[in-house]
Amino acid sequence: MKLGVAKESFPGEKRVAITPASIPNLKKLGLEVVVQSGAGLAAGYEDSSYLDKGAQIVPSRSDVFQSDIIVQVRAAGENPNVGSKDIPLMKHGQVVIASCDALSSLPQIEPIARAGATLFALELIPRITRAQSMDILSSQATIAGYRAVLMGAIELHKIFPMMMTAAGTLSAARVFILGAGVAGLQAIATAKKLGAIVHAYDLRPACREQVESLGGKFVTLDIDSGSSEDKGGYAKAMDDAFYHRQREELAKTVAQSDVVITTAAIPGKRSPLLVTAHAVRAMQEGSVIIDLAAQRGGNCELTKADERVIDSGVVILGPTNIASDAAYHASSMFSNNVTKFLQNLIAEGKPNIRMEDEIIRDTLVTHHGNVVHPKLVTAAA
Ligand code: NAI
Repeated sequence: MKLGVAKESFPGEKRVAITPASIPNLKKLGLEVVVQSGAGLAAGYEDSSYLDKGAQIVPSRSDVFQSDIIVQVRAAGENPNVGSKDIPLMKHGQVVIASCDALSSLPQIEPIARAGATLFALELIPRITRAQSMDILSSQATIAGYRAVLMGAIELHKIFPMMMTAAGTLSAARVFILGAGVAGLQAIATAKKLGAIVHAYDLRPACREQVESLGGKFVTLDIDSGSSEDKGGYAKAMDDAFYHRQREELAKTVAQSDVVITTAAIPGKRSPLLVTAHAVRAMQEGSVIIDLAAQRGGNCELTKADERVIDSGVVILGPTNIASDAAYHASSMFSNNVTKFLQNLIAEGKPNIRMEDEIIRDTLVTHHGNVVHPKLVTAAA
């Protein structure tokens, strides 16, 4: 069977779904790898490095879409405009594997079902131990957390570490991380390495130990969050009264911080509002907010996705594709994740769609001409 690696078409996307290092493992599965010419270039992977590992390079998108399996970083809701041009190229029975923002993107998913393609949405991989190596959300969030700190450090008109020099003593910058999941923990580790004083907060009290083990100080708020974690390890949506109290309490630490990095997300929902305009205006001029939740509305009231906002001298950035800025390593991790996913899916050289496998069942979105994911079937009804 042929596995096609399509060049990403989402504006500004630099990543590629499969890197040359994964090709030997894909060949071991009995797959022939076909790469659209230039697919890896923006991430630093030349056509020649794919050829060296035994892949075939094809010139056009329609050539790559002749493959039995297509892998992409973004499809469906993750590339809603340009991505729709791929649908006429899809074949009946073709397997498409990508991150899709599937649960919010029924209008983009339905035409894929009608085209007869079998779509797997990688963001739906369950958070179970067996699937850890396939988890694209974790791998890309790791890169995002790291890059967010670098972005904040460059924007800030101070340096991060404390320094005692002949020209005077400089105090360490204070960095506050909101949301201590995968991105948040990486941000804590990176900010600590750069010498900042790091505080962090998360709704899930289980994070305290992780924050402290990285040298961060866990901020405890005087509000009872009750049960704040679902059985998948994600935060649960809370009620309005809780969020209101939370914003008021957080404003105190926000005001004392030089850089605030927000990463708080609730799967499939708008990101919780944690930093109000009022809280921003209480920060020192020259402070910086990096809002990693910008794609789903942001954690800061003043965030505008992919824009630079300056309010009362505070710089607010809401990058929505920050992992793509470190495309070489982000692609390498993505490619390893997809390869592990394929190792689970492929049996005797072809996809074995067995619904008793939780990873396959949870990620399968369209099959045999229908939208089949239970959460989307309910939305469509
Ligand atoms: P996420 O991207 O959905 O959210 C980021 C963080 O924001 C989470 O820690 C969440 O608790 C926090 N948050 C949400 N609402 C908040 C609020 N109102 N105030 C403060 N914080 C808020 O989550 P992420 O980073 O993808 O991971 C969540 C959990 O899943 C972590 O415990 C992680 O270790 C676990 N996980 C497990 C995996 C596995 O077992 N295969 C793989 C990846 C993560």
